[in-house]
Amino acid sequence: MERLPQEIIARKRDGYQLEREEVEAFVAGVVSGGFKDYQASALLMAIVLRGMTPEETGWLTEAMMRSGRIVDLPEISRPKVDKHSTGGVGDKVSLILAPLAAACGLCVPMMSGRGLGHTGGTLDKLEAIPGFSTQLDDAAYRKQLQNIHQAMIGQSVDMVPADRKLYALRDVTGTVESIPLICASILSKKLAEGIDALVLDVKFGRGAFMATEADGRKLAESLVAIGTAMGKPTSALLTRMEQPLGRMIGNSLEVIEAMDCLRGQGPADLMEVTFALCAEMLRLGDLEVDAAAAKATLKKAIDSGAALRAFRQLVEAQGGDPRVVDDYERLPLSEHCCEIGVENEAPLYIGRLDARGFGQAACVLGAGRSSMDAVIDPAVGFELLKKEGDRVEPGEPIVRIHFTDDKKLDTVVERLRHAIGLSKKPVAVQPLVVDRITG
Ligand code: URA
Repeated sequence: MERLPQEIIARKRDGYQLEREEVEAFVAGVVSGGFKDYQASALLMAIVLRGMTPEETGWLTEAMMRSGRIVDLPEISRPKVDKHSTGGVGDKVSLILAPLAAACGLCVPMMSGRGLGHTGGTLDKLEAIPGFSTQLDDAAYRKQLQNIHQAMIGQSVDMVPADRKLYALRDVTGTVESIPLICASILSKKLAEGIDALVLDVKFGRGAFMATEADGRKLAESLVAIGTAMGKPTSALLTRMEQPLGRMIGNSLEVIEAMDCLRGQGPADLMEVTFALCAEMLRLGDLEVDAAAAKATLKKAIDSGAALRAFRQLVEAQGGDPRVVDDYERLPLSEHCCEIGVENEAPLYIGRLDARGFGQAACVLGAGRSSMDAVIDPAVGFELLKKEGDRVEPGEPIVRIHFTDDKKLDTVVERLRHAIGLSKKPVAVQPLVVDRITG
């Protein structure tokens, strides 16, 4: 018997497992309009509160994946491996990893998203590069993958329309933080893009959608189980997202930091996560099984300049100005900077740089969106002059703010002050890559 939207919502509200047909009716209704936004939002909230069984999560993933066109890339002979992060602050790993993996022999067909909540999005970062287009038609996408073995684009309109709708609703209805919804959102997109294997960066901590390691692990296990069950070798790294990753937050600034990394001048934490994820991609692509050998291969691609050349090719292929690679001033940069610190009389240590606080302050500054139709300012952002564990001498600055509109500055500074915690005693920094979860 076909159930009405309100009956499906009520069954989930009351804690029942939905039937496959009900999950499929929800997804079809979201795309066709048969489920109105208010009904979809109500069901999303019921899912957040009641959860979903592994079967329901698998059905939801599959129905979302099948809601649009599924790409197949038989003409590509290289192993096609992608990486996806569950979202963080300062996470510009994709910008480094796609050209790096391509330089090491993989093909990376990467479909990315925009910022969600307090987290940044790869598409917004790439679009800071003058001329860079994240929309390629199918023929151009395939040609680019054959020519330069990498593409970084947004979902085309005919792919996974169910996620496009649900992602936008979740962003504004407090329904992002849910393991089954995140799992279905990520995997439906990734499994529709024609890859052979997938590596996930599952983040937990203050700046992630999963606050605790235990929830991060549950999400990673769910992603790996469903990806593997759907026929794609999938593995996940569980990584800490307590403080922003790297030193830059903001779109142009993160592109600059990514290029520094490709030049071999990246910060240690960002390189650690990038190398670990990229090594996992090489393993799943059967190019390098041994982790130490994979890291040596990756390092060689950076030291030889091959990875930076691959980035330049990517920028050029997607209509961007390749001169940005050698001349960072060609990116939109803000004309105004100021620094904040503390008035300490004795040395102090950075105990906490709250990633969520920095992400939210970046949205206020204009680096992210505070409403669905807000326009991003690519020039603004933060430069972390200190990271957790660092010593701060009297008078030393901690953060440099790059801003356009000084009217927002007081609020931003106040938020940053809340996000920074200081300690009189040295602070131990926790390891970043906590575990690897394989299918
Ligand atoms: N990234 C996604 O693509 N979807 C989510 O729900 C969260 C992070």
